[in-house]
Amino acid sequence: MPVPAAAQQRADALRERLHHHAHRYYVLDAPEIPDAEYDKLFQELQALESAYPELLTPDSPTQRVGGHVLDGFAKVRHRVSMLSIRTETDIEPSGARSFDARVRRELELGEGAPPVRYVAELKFDGLAINLRYEQGLLVQAATRGDGEVGEDVTQNLRTVGQVPLRLIGDVPAVVEVRGEVYMRRDDFDRLNELQREKIAQGQKNEKTFVNPRNAAAGAVRQLDPAIARQRPLSFYAYGWGEMTPPEEGGPVFTSHHEVLKTFGDWGLPVSDRIRLCEGAEDLVAFHQDIGRTRDGLPFDIDGVVYKVDSLALQRQLGFVTREPRWAVAHKFPAQEQMTTVEAIDVFVGRTGKLTPVARLAPVFVGGVTVSNATLHNEDEVLRKDVRVGDQVIVRRAGDVIPEVVAVVPGSRRADAVSFVMPRRCPVCDSEAVREADEADWRCSGGLFCDAQRKQALLHFAQRRALDIEGLGEKLVEQLVDEGWVRTLPDLYRLDLDRLSGLDRMGEKSARNLLDGLEQSKATSLPRFLFGLGIRHVGEATARDLARHFGKLDGILEANVDQLLQVPDVGPVVAESLHRFFAQPHNREVIDALRVCGVHWPEGEPAQSAPQILAGKTVVLTGTLPTLGRDEAKEMLEAAGAKVAGSVSKKTSVVVAGTEAGSKLDKARELGILIIDEAGLRDLLAGVLSV
Ligand code: IVH
Repeated sequence: MPVPAAAQQRADALRERLHHHAHRYYVLDAPEIPDAEYDKLFQELQALESAYPELLTPDSPTQRVGGHVLDGFAKVRHRVSMLSIRTETDIEPSGARSFDARVRRELELGEGAPPVRYVAELKFDGLAINLRYEQGLLVQAATRGDGEVGEDVTQNLRTVGQVPLRLIGDVPAVVEVRGEVYMRRDDFDRLNELQREKIAQGQKNEKTFVNPRNAAAGAVRQLDPAIARQRPLSFYAYGWGEMTPPEEGGPVFTSHHEVLKTFGDWGLPVSDRIRLCEGAEDLVAFHQDIGRTRDGLPFDIDGVVYKVDSLALQRQLGFVTREPRWAVAHKFPAQEQMTTVEAIDVFVGRTGKLTPVARLAPVFVGGVTVSNATLHNEDEVLRKDVRVGDQVIVRRAGDVIPEVVAVVPGSRRADAVSFVMPRRCPVCDSEAVREADEADWRCSGGLFCDAQRKQALLHFAQRRALDIEGLGEKLVEQLVDEGWVRTLPDLYRLDLDRLSGLDRMGEKSARNLLDGLEQSKATSLPRFLFGLGIRHVGEATARDLARHFGKLDGILEANVDQLLQVPDVGPVVAESLHRFFAQPHNREVIDALRVCGVHWPEGEPAQSAPQILAGKTVVLTGTLPTLGRDEAKEMLEAAGAKVAGSVSKKTSVVVAGTEAGSKLDKARELGILIIDEAGLRDLLAGVLSV
């Protein structure tokens, strides 16, 4: 059946628009139309193509899906070999200086010669891929393999949204784009979440992935493209292979950064964290910058790459064996390492929470030596099935507490036994309890438990609570072990004689501690409340409580319903507060602290502000000259008004600032009183009434 001209035109137009929107969405991360609109265009094209199969082109956006299960991957001989890159052995910033010095020596640049220009890039932790475009169309995607021969993974790479099926604009007849396929951390977490669900449902062949790199590698080499499609991959271009030369009509490039910029114009994703550097010191600064911010990136990197920018200088420098002399990888300390689990201990926290901790053979990871790693809770240990004697992968990223990621398969000793959570507290031997739908076991000993006592004292003394200068971990340890401090008020009963007798404590530091204790007595209600270490009561909640009740006694006497009146306090927090204050020994601690001289200024309950706007509904619109929206809302609510989002007949008054839009028109239409910020202040002061 001949294809009607109208169908042909419509299909062309749809493909054009879909390519445009896919580029906006996947590469620029700036969509212009909602997803549903994209889907509609997509489905229309799909329908046309199935009615007239002659319309189907290999670069059609509909061809990202589909494909068939392969028996294996075909081999691809690279037309230009895919080189590897030398790794600088010196991981300190000075590593960049050695590279620059080598480059200058090779180029015979004397001391007086100007600095060499480099491009500094991220070293993405994924898989190198070669994308071959002919006449602008993606015709083949191949892995690096041994650098000479890789595998044809075209089907799978077609499913990657960030890989253009067709390049935009004036492109050479042939261009091979090289770059990294990788998996973002959020995509990785979601994928593993899904995998865990599948395993929980009893799907035997499913597994979780150790890290984004492995997950990406698995997806690229997945023989079933339908499965590959469910593994979200991303792509960054950083280099090229074969390209039509200028004498055959190809583009003329003189620098690396120019090529990358052009790649961007052609619709390829290029990282925006590339920096042009002049000389070694710029490279050092880049390495330091990225080292500091690496944990905030949405994907893993294992270092940075420096490349000589000028293509003429690159040619002059040439290669040694399989590595170019014009580029180097400069790594960061690895964030993952392998080590052995020597024991699994259970740590008791301030609230009695029992945390299993892996004691490890010390290992250097993420820039520090790690010998403990958290295992979070019972379920986590069992899920990862970590056992004493296992080889494990430990991860430490940034300031995050080191954790055990997974057991190295096949490393288990025959006699290794599963972890069993103790049923008694390892410190005080009280019973351990795990409430239904809670992940944690807790020691039921409360402040009878020395471990909890120590943590509670440290919590009370910390800077954000009572801020007791000089009271650190070692000292608390001794004070509790000597039996001198059992409860918080005992701290204020310490004297110079006793203190100066302690280990590593002279008279001077004893005096300093006593001064610190004395100064801590003048505090604030939020600090005091937070310092008590009530479960679920953080600094923000403490502040809300203080603001709402004004006085401690108000909080002590409040029932659960009254506690629920506090903004942001829900049933769990209210319950926890009520339970805490109902315990006689907690009341005793509070009384004793007051007797010792701990004090704070008390205020009026926020609630007792006159509710002059009770029953009134106010709508805010536009920008007020001095008051923020939240601020205005808070003031109105404190006076008893309800603040609504839209204008209706029930609206009592509309407060309008600049650029007020349709709400203002609506208010005019309904004849509702409209006031400005000055009017609002009059309203709150009771000068104006509505
Ligand atoms: S350039 C001739 N740039 O690191 C230089 N490689 O061997 C070729 N990699 O597996 C590589 N980020 O996949 C280059 N910005 C980057 C890179 C990068 C990651 C990977 C590449 C290869 C290894 C280097």
